[in-house]
Parts: sequence; C-alpha cells; structure tokens
Amino acid sequence: MVIKDFLIREIFDSRGQSTVEVGISTKDGLAFYSSVPSGKSRGSKEAAVLDFKSASSIKNIKKLSAVKGQNFASVKSFDDFLLKLDGTKNKKALGGNVMLGFSMSFARAKAFEAGEELSEFLHKEFFKDIPLKKEWSPVIFSNLINGGEHAENNLDIQEYMVLVDTSKGVKNSVKKLIYFYDSLGDLLKKKFRIPGILPIGDEGGYSLDFKDNFEPMVVLSDLIKKNGLAGSFRLGLDAAASSFYSGNRYIFGGRKLTTEKLADTYLSAFKKFPMLYSIEDPFSESDPEGFCSVLSRVKGNMLVGDDLTVTNSSLVEKYASIGAINGVIIKPNQAGTVSEAASAILSARLRGVKTVISHRSGETEDVFIISLGKASDSYGLKIGSPTRERMLKFNELLRI
Ligand code: PGA
Ligand code: ZN
Repeated sequence: MVIKDFLIREIFDSRGQSTVEVGISTKDGLAFYSSVPSGKSRGSKEAAVLDFKSASSIKNIKKLSAVKGQNFASVKSFDDFLLKLDGTKNKKALGGNVMLGFSMSFARAKAFEAGEELSEFLHKEFFKDIPLKKEWSPVIFSNLINGGEHAENNLDIQEYMVLVDTSKGVKNSVKKLIYFYDSLGDLLKKKFRIPGILPIGDEGGYSLDFKDNFEPMVVLSDLIKKNGLAGSFRLGLDAAASSFYSGNRYIFGGRKLTTEKLADTYLSAFKKFPMLYSIEDPFSESDPEGFCSVLSRVKGNMLVGDDLTVTNSSLVEKYASIGAINGVIIKPNQAGTVSEAASAILSARLRGVKTVISHRSGETEDVFIISLGKASDSYGLKIGSPTRERMLKFNELLRI
C-alpha cells in the first residue's frame, strides 16, 4: 500500500474542542479519513497530544511527508515507520493524536485494498489466534450518571455505569438500555423535582448533586430491580481516582482518606451492592498498591486499569503480574498507534485480563473502536449513554 498524499484537518469534538482528522490518499485516487477523540481525565503516561497548529506546522508536515511514496506491507510496519520518524518516548514530536489518525486511516486503506470489512482486516492483521465471531456481543459499559471531571456536580466518582449483557442479542439489549436510560431520567426528574431538561455530563449521563457518592448506586440498583433487569444488567464505576488524589490522600465525600480507608469503602460497596461488578481506576495511577489490596480481597469482581495502564502493553503486563488488575481499558489514542493498542489487547489476553474497548469523553464521529473491539472479541465496550453523539458507536455496533 503506497500513500500518495495526506492532510491534517482541524475538526471539533463533542465538547466543541479542537481535534484532528487525518486523511490519506492512495495512488488509485481513493481517500481514507480518521479522527481522534480527546480525554479530560488523562493518565500522565498517555501519548502526547499536539494542538492543531503544532500538528499541522510546516516542520511536522515536512517530517510526515516521508510516508509518501513508500510501500508498507502491514499496519505494524507503517506504525513502526511513524514511531521511528517521531523518535521520542511519548510521541511528542509528531503527536500521538496525529500518529493515531495516520495509523487508523492506513488500516482503513489496507482493509479496502484487501476487500475486507475493517473488523475482518484487523482480525487477520493482529488477532488471528482469536476466533472471529459473526456477531460481537460485548458487555456494554454505559455511563448513565456522570460526576468527577465530566460533570459540574458534587460526585467524586466520575462514572456510574450499567453493564449490559448482550449475549441474547445486541439490538434488543441496546433497546432495553435506551428504555432504562429514559426511565432513569424520569425518575431523577421526579426525585429532584426538575421540571425541564436534566443537566447532562460529557458522556451523556445525568449530572445532579446527590446525597453522597453512593446514592446513585442505590437509585440504579433499585431501578434495575424494578424493571426486572437483574439478570442482564450489572453495575460498574469509574472512580478516575487520580482526579481526587492529593498529598497521599483521597479527597472523597468531603473527607481525607488513606489508601486503606478508601479500599475499605470499596469493599463495603461490593458487599452493600451485590450488582456492583467492576471498578475502574479505584485508586490513583501512582498507587497500584491500592488496586492490589482490593483485588486480593474480592472474588469474582473486576478491577480495571485505565490511567494506570494507558493502553500500554508493558504496563498491562506489569500491573497484571502484581495482581493489581484483572480488567483493562483500551483507548487507542492513549497508545498513539493501532498496532500498539492491539499489542496492549494481546498482552492483556495472554494474562487473562479482560479488555474493555473505550471511547473518550470528547468524541468524534469516528467509529473505528467498534471494529477493533469485534476483531479482538473484547469482553466489554464502553461508549457512554445511549444518546446524542454517543449513539454513533451504538449504531456501528448494530451494523457490524
Ligand atoms: P476521559 O475519561 O476520556 O475524559 O479521559 C474517560 C475515562 O476516564 O474512562
Ligand atoms: Zn477511566
């Protein structure tokens, strides 16, 4: 596959923030475009993000022009070329966002050349040993109540999710989720006596002040039971705890907690809410001991790394091996190329760590992650509430 030309264009994400779209053209006159989302609660080791001005500077364009006219046999060889061209540890020269845009567009071009669906192509390219299912039935991690940095309310926990089992049919499960999201909205309107539209956070979940960090769990558990969904809906949290960690303490519920105290808080939440299955980033990325202390004391629950692992295969390996995580978030833009995201997935699978393919809080219309999830038969798919711009990922899941 030979790249004839490319462009880097400024577009805006779901928060109205500037981000990049990368287009590449081939000698047959075809063009392939990909856009890159952006995160707000980011891990410190994520690939660097360049603003549009730096991304499209004369210097960067000149450097990137080296991809033109070259023949790349695989996504991996293309990504390796980009990595060499960048030459930095965190992709700060070319920009991890720019590199990912190139990498996804190249994968799309290669899939087209091979006459294959993107998921089929990615499967052959990276995940040959994993059986490719006709219909991918991930557990959908849907964030219905937003807090932390994604909302303007009093919740320290960033995301209160329902985990929807789709094994009995993806479409029906999505319909149930939409109904649940709407009935949650009705319930919250009554509970908080809000006559108009409910405030919404970055990922489409409701954003209100609650009595404490665990009241949303009571509301969600009760509604799941009331709607007779206990067989197919569970609960998950993304604490995004780096955002409330300061000076070796967690500022949680208006109190300063040690790692041990926060661990006890989570352990009692698992007891109090039997539907609670997973907690993502329960502790700060600089406090893996916290992860280990909870994971060693629960049975059958999932602790998920996100800021901790930043879609990096060595970090996944490291934290899986010390017993800090048994689940991991995969966000291609944390890694900065498709092949590095694929390698983080493989690293997780090798160690029995469940992978959850995830969007970012600032999203674009790009639905690449859905094909990546299907290609790797990932356990979960985290794509926000079934509403607004988030609906694009749900629809792509129904499509593929
Ligand atoms: P972000 O948050 O996309 O704003 O970084 C998402 C998450 O923490 O999972
Ligand atoms: Zn997270």
